[in-house]
Amino acid sequence: MVNLNAILDQFVSDCKIAPYGDGHINDTYLTSSRQFILQRINTKIFKDYEQLMNNIDGVTSFLKEKIKAAGGDPERETLTVIKTKDGKNFYKTEDGDVYRLYIYINDSVARSVVTDPVQLYHAGKAFGKFQFMLADYPAESLFEVIPDFHNTRKRFEALKEAIEKDIAGRKHLVEKEIEFALSQEHYIDTVVDGLASGEIPLRVTHNDTKINNVLFDKDTEEGICVIDLDTVMPGSLLYDFGDALRAGATTGAEDETDLSKVWFDIYAFKNFAKGFLEYTNASMTDREAELLPLSAKLLTYECGIRFLTDYLNGDTYFKIHREHHNLDRARNQFKLVEDMANKESEMMSIINQLRRK
Ligand SMILES: Nc1ncnc2c1ncn2[C@@H]1O[C@H](COP(=O)(O)OP(=O)(O)O)[C@@H](O)[C@H]1O
Ligand SMILES: [Mg+2]
Repeated sequence: MVNLNAILDQFVSDCKIAPYGDGHINDTYLTSSRQFILQRINTKIFKDYEQLMNNIDGVTSFLKEKIKAAGGDPERETLTVIKTKDGKNFYKTEDGDVYRLYIYINDSVARSVVTDPVQLYHAGKAFGKFQFMLADYPAESLFEVIPDFHNTRKRFEALKEAIEKDIAGRKHLVEKEIEFALSQEHYIDTVVDGLASGEIPLRVTHNDTKINNVLFDKDTEEGICVIDLDTVMPGSLLYDFGDALRAGATTGAEDETDLSKVWFDIYAFKNFAKGFLEYTNASMTDREAELLPLSAKLLTYECGIRFLTDYLNGDTYFKIHREHHNLDRARNQFKLVEDMANKESEMMSIINQLRRK
């Protein structure tokens, strides 16, 4: 049995431990007598946890200065990394487990699903504010925690390789999905090439902009702060915008098999975009704004081909709970891509309207 109280004592004295939350990546604990969150970092996924913690330390320290300058509460509006008694931002046990400690954000709720579109408006504001406050952070100084995370071209090449090798012998089952995936090639380089040429600015990106990574005020429904900063990396604002809509603006679960229930929810899009642009409109370039609708489609497509690739490779990356689970997920994402393509001009007029305000 791991003695979590002994680990906690490396950071602070006179404190006790209890499990907390329903995160899927890290092990999260709430302390009792004083309010902290102790997390065991998933070092299988995040091998370079030192660099990762330096990213989080750098970004949260920077945010604190911004929040203070704006008259806000720097221990509530961003995560606070508590150092160990010997000044490190993580603690490694003798068994090689790595822990970190954050201040617990009081009177907050985390939501795993959107139950009211207004929650997306508040989530959009929270992620928009995060972007806005970090607009002048030196993004290139951040460590790339997962290299090529949103390099759609590389994801596309991985799919082509999986098709060619057909390791699991499933290619014949997915001819239609393969045909669809390959037919989308014309837009997959838009963001990667834009970043490379400088046409799209390199920014700090969160890279996991799902609603469950925002803490909401339990009374007012407003977003308090953005959490889960493991995948903070240099990237494009379009990644954060697009991925939030992929996950949040759909009428069905990510693995819903009845595709007649899966649609891109333009009202949800409008809500998220409204919140996001409240903070980012001024700092966003025209090119970024013009690509916001495409970003939703692109990030959804990218996720879809990752599921399809994994299905062809015999389900080695994503956890599955039933046979063909990854195929169900891929079909679901592709259905959304098609619907987003049909609604791209509608999305653009919403953005144009929000830009003028
Ligand atoms: N500083 C915090 N204050 C309050 N709750 C938190 C804090 N950090 C994390 N949580 C809770 O723990 C859950 C898991 O944390 P998270 O960092 O998102 O881990 P994972 O990477 O596993 O998703 C969150 O959904 C939230 O409920
Ligand atoms: Mg999380």
